[in-house]
Amino acid sequence: MTFAQLRAFLAVVRHRSVTGAAAELYVTQPAVSASLAALERDVGVRLLVRDKRGVRPTPSGEALAGFAAQCLGLAEQGRDSAVSAAHPGRGRLRLVAVTTAGEYVVPRILKTFQERYPEVDPVLEVGNRALVLERLLAREADLGVSGRPPVEGAVKGRGFLANDLVIVAAPDHPLAGRSGIDPRRLDDTWLLREPGSGTRSTTEEFLARNEVEPRRVLNLGSNGAVKQAAAVGLGVTLISARAVALELAAGTLARLRVRGTPLRRRWFLQYLEEGFLPGPAQAFLRFASGTAARRAVLAARPAVVRR
Ligand code: PGA
Repeated sequence: MTFAQLRAFLAVVRHRSVTGAAAELYVTQPAVSASLAALERDVGVRLLVRDKRGVRPTPSGEALAGFAAQCLGLAEQGRDSAVSAAHPGRGRLRLVAVTTAGEYVVPRILKTFQERYPEVDPVLEVGNRALVLERLLAREADLGVSGRPPVEGAVKGRGFLANDLVIVAAPDHPLAGRSGIDPRRLDDTWLLREPGSGTRSTTEEFLARNEVEPRRVLNLGSNGAVKQAAAVGLGVTLISARAVALELAAGTLARLRVRGTPLRRRWFLQYLEEGFLPGPAQAFLRFASGTAARRAVLAARPAVVRR
């Protein structure tokens, strides 16, 4: 069993096709097929079957896939830690963050972090909570950033920065400028992020807890789409204050001063409890909890955090 065979196997599982795997790995299709055949010979059971919808893993293939991803991830971590042992402060930093953190928090911290650790080479992947967990468990990322503490026992979490969520609408919304608004008056159209988004789950919990009955719900796939929709008066939304700092300062969105908001949350750095953290990841973990990181993120501080 070789890394090349495991890599080919995982690529075929991901793409459901040998052609797709060959394109991803920049090798020929016969090379991928040869790797798969050698792997199946070695393991001694069928790992993949072909059906009308493409190639898919057998139960044995599914059993192997999780281990294969961990093997490759662990080898990468090993390489990174070998580099950082020889050259402290050098090496790769593999981050995965939920959307809002990936857009509005991590880049600011990285900017300051890079000034202190110029030889660290960061990679940031952005997705939803499920992706953050998947990458950590497969050791394909060293650190994850999410809006909630981890629920999976194998993952540890450390809260590190405030994440206030506010309700915003177009500046000409009838409740803009009022204070102490009863949440039940928000029987508007609510703009929701895509399923899987932490902001969406928080919004759903807020609506249920406060017995808010939206007139309609509009699903939009990104913070950008939600902000634009709110600005043109399509509805109201609950969103991280960090994500709307510029719009609130520019007056293209207005914060609705609803009772019980801002919701005061935190961002969490997550990592595998039993995992080995390479030097750059350890440095980032320390740095993100410090004052330089807080200052970097608060640089565009919105004037919205008063109740
Ligand atoms: P999201 O995550 O940007 O995917 O909604 C933010 C959060 O979990 O609070």
